[in-house]
Amino acid sequence: MKTKTPVSGGSYGTKIADLYIVHNLAAVNGSSRHTYHVMPPVGWMNDPNGFGEAFGKYHLFYQFYPYGPSWDSMHWGHYTTEDFVKWKLEPTALAPDGADDCDGCFSGSSVVKDGKLYLVYTSVAGDRQTQSLAVSEDGVHFEKLGVVIPSDQLPKGCPKTDFRDPKVFRRGGSYFLLAGGLSEKNEGAILLYRSEDLFHWTFVNFVRKDARTTRGTYECPDFFELDGYDVLLASPQGYKTEDWRYENVQSSIYLLGKFDETRGVFETAVEDEIDGGFDFYAPQTLQTRDGRTVMIAWMQMWQRFFPTAKHGWTGSMILPRELAVKDGKLYQNPVREIERYRWNPVHFGNVTIGNRNELTKVNGTRIELCFTLDLGTAQRVGIKLYQKGEHDVRIYYDRERDRVVFDRSRMGVEITHDAEEKDAVIRSVKVSTERNMLSMRIFLDVSSCEVFLNGGERTMTGNVYSDGDGITFFAEGGTARLVCLDKYDIVV
Ligand code: FRU
Repeated sequence: MKTKTPVSGGSYGTKIADLYIVHNLAAVNGSSRHTYHVMPPVGWMNDPNGFGEAFGKYHLFYQFYPYGPSWDSMHWGHYTTEDFVKWKLEPTALAPDGADDCDGCFSGSSVVKDGKLYLVYTSVAGDRQTQSLAVSEDGVHFEKLGVVIPSDQLPKGCPKTDFRDPKVFRRGGSYFLLAGGLSEKNEGAILLYRSEDLFHWTFVNFVRKDARTTRGTYECPDFFELDGYDVLLASPQGYKTEDWRYENVQSSIYLLGKFDETRGVFETAVEDEIDGGFDFYAPQTLQTRDGRTVMIAWMQMWQRFFPTAKHGWTGSMILPRELAVKDGKLYQNPVREIERYRWNPVHFGNVTIGNRNELTKVNGTRIELCFTLDLGTAQRVGIKLYQKGEHDVRIYYDRERDRVVFDRSRMGVEITHDAEEKDAVIRSVKVSTERNMLSMRIFLDVSSCEVFLNGGERTMTGNVYSDGDGITFFAEGGTARLVCLDKYDIVV
């Protein structure tokens, strides 16, 4: 992609970023662009930031580098939405233009206080990471207020190089802040601070110290209460693989338990991976006006080859998900608002699946599929998506391993990955297959595939790069039955 020179003299700013966006929008090649997922207008996107409600809208900020499709000096881009499906691009909120954040405005959260929207972010200068505030009175323009947790407020022996991603929340009349960091022994850690006014913070405790983060820290903590549990989310770097879990080079996990915020102790009852696919990281949540907990996450993964970079952009967000806790598990389902965008319904019932079943009018790459499989006698039964000639992406149940598999090894584009990652093409999860049945809800959006299994018991998310749009059901080593199938085009 040919772009105009970003900044003269190397200084960044929000206005310069916005001018650059306007002048370079047309240079982004549309070929892999999603239609109902958040993407950067140009350049690079990673973590969601400051996901929250203010001034009558939902706000999503994100890690943004406008001037090229790779990670660099981090800005905060900004979108707003009413329904989590249609997004409005807002002016860039933060640029790395201050003395304390000249090397990046890293991830963080937002909080409304006295009618103002505060952003709490990590300011990076050289090897020093500190926590800073910015404020807005209109939800559009932000004024930086400077560092509120400097390095000398780290517990003794903790390195100032890794201290980031503040999540602020209110509980029991005080503000609390969780940040990722390293302990004095270099273990991945989550630190808790407390404040009465957002400006003065006191260290409370290490909520977690853990040597399983083999290549860094716990990034991007998030916290909320849901269905009688306290829930902590975090994204550990280099979390050790356990059987089929935590196979990505960086993972995202949830903990269910009880949080004593005054002592800074989280008693964990359940710990698990949030998403069993390839591309899911750094989730954040908000509470909607009607009481739902909605989660968004970066739909990419570090240390991989990014095929859309050649089109002038990299990174996008998952379709936001509603969360619930049932039977001690975190359930995830797409926001219900997506159902307003369903078009051209197609229905099938009771179809025997053999080697290869193509169903009339069931194809496409901007679609939702909901179906239930009776697994029958098949050894492998599932669906091929993004199919064209030799190429496809497969989601299927493998009886021998008793797992659901997401296989993108035949999509025709190679995703190179970090040497520490086993592969970037096959993931699998265990789900219940009671009564020999399995249900799937799948969303495709040009270059993505999000799979919700058994009403949200597990999810698998992956990017797909392909120009095929064929869909085929298949069963191997026996037969199976498609109990029912509903397909919709998603048109936004
Ligand atoms: C996670 C992360 C954060 C950091 C940000 C920088 O993906 O590494 O820890 O704040 O990205 O862009």
